[in-house]
Amino acid sequence: MKTLAIIGSQWGDEGKGKITDLLAAKCDLVVRYQGGNNAGHTIIVEGKKTVLHLIPSGILHPHCMSLVGHGVVFDPRAFSQELKTVTDAGAKITPENLRLSRGASVITTYHRILDGVREAQGPIKIGTTGKGIGPAYVDKVARRGLKLGDLTNLDVIKAKLKTSLQEKESLFKNLYQAEYPSVDQEANELFEFGKKLAPFLDDTFALIDKALMAGKKVMYEGAQGVLLDIDWGSYPFVTSSSTSAGGIYTGAGCPGSSVEEVLGITKAYTTRVGEGPFPTELFEHIGEDIQTKGGEFGATTGRKRRCGWLDLPLLKYSVKASNLTSIALTKVDVLANMGKLKVCVAYEIDGKQYDMASPGLDLSKVKPVYEEVSGFEDDFTGDTLSSSLKSYIEKIEKHVGIPVGILAFGPERHQIKFIKDYF
Ligand code: GDP
Ligand code: IMO
Ligand code: MG
Repeated sequence: MKTLAIIGSQWGDEGKGKITDLLAAKCDLVVRYQGGNNAGHTIIVEGKKTVLHLIPSGILHPHCMSLVGHGVVFDPRAFSQELKTVTDAGAKITPENLRLSRGASVITTYHRILDGVREAQGPIKIGTTGKGIGPAYVDKVARRGLKLGDLTNLDVIKAKLKTSLQEKESLFKNLYQAEYPSVDQEANELFEFGKKLAPFLDDTFALIDKALMAGKKVMYEGAQGVLLDIDWGSYPFVTSSSTSAGGIYTGAGCPGSSVEEVLGITKAYTTRVGEGPFPTELFEHIGEDIQTKGGEFGATTGRKRRCGWLDLPLLKYSVKASNLTSIALTKVDVLANMGKLKVCVAYEIDGKQYDMASPGLDLSKVKPVYEEVSGFEDDFTGDTLSSSLKSYIEKIEKHVGIPVGILAFGPERHQIKFIKDYF
């Protein structure tokens, strides 16, 4: 296998960072293709924690080239901070191993302000990360956004910011009463960042094409999860990009047929940060137990993650919506020693049962149908799994129709079992 995609199959935070880091050991190129610094991908190596927001999760492997593709919305300030934090912690990051697409869209201060005031003043509260993601994608789609390649020319920055600010100025003044920097102030700051970014800028499409033609091993690292996809997710409680596999083809710029394996990263239970429907959410103590044991706090915002049982109709939908070919089941250790477990096997609505979610089913109205399953007490020290854990895995495979190829039972690199071979 030469090409593999990492896709979150739930509402994000499934452990994409850990799995990407592990597989990057065997591959040549890791590409982020959508989202921005709303992502928080955690890697833990011998107790040392690295949280990546914009930098791809292959970066801790010196041989591996990391690319940020043109589908990403990129905040130069956030990147500078992340670059400093990660290099201060000992990683080597230079234009030798990290390249940024000139076509990635820039998140400006105006976008961050808009994100904040819209969340604060409504009418809908999405519970965004506040990083300016949605407003930046709006400007991209409205054809008035800045691209990273623009940041090396002060006149271009000023001209484009003026266009971008034209309507926002009225919103800031009249609707939101928000303070905002002048075009000159914002342009000068972005230009300074542009000077620092310049050595990293490149044509990432051409680099991916060259790697594919040379038979190199390429991994596409998704952010968020299928249920947060702008088209496939629980709209409007979603992010503003294509988080499912379709985003790779537009955001990285590779031919669809070139992705051989689409690995759906799946938590053994379900979590969600932010607002929106969550059929299997647990409100009683067991939800708290999972939250505490799983350390379920957002890696970007620190918010408590809502927790619930594994939702198979949701997972089956993700498999279809994103053409997943296998599953990496993570955080299995969190469910160990918790007694009997429940798994949602269907949704009930208007007297009918459905074994798969779909955009036509209102997730806020469905009633989860649970099966109680035996708990497991595996300590994952040996090679064998208990029969209860095996049947938990088989239940998933049978319901969604694809195999579990990886089992993760802790945050460290060695806490992993490969059932299937990748790369
Ligand atoms: P991502 O956004 O999908 O990369 O996931 P996050 O990094 O936001 O959240 C996953 C959290 O679970 C991180 O704190 C990881 O260190 C941790 N983690 C990943 N895999 C496992 C696992 O198998 N078991 C446990 N206990 N923790 C894990
Ligand atoms: P990773 O890559 C979990 C959620 C936010 C909010 C919604 C919209 O670490 O899995 P946005 O700031 O994107 O406009 O927020 O999406 N969200 C995430 N939830 N993991 C993420 O990323 C997320 N990125 C965004 O909480 O509900
Ligand atoms: Mg995360």
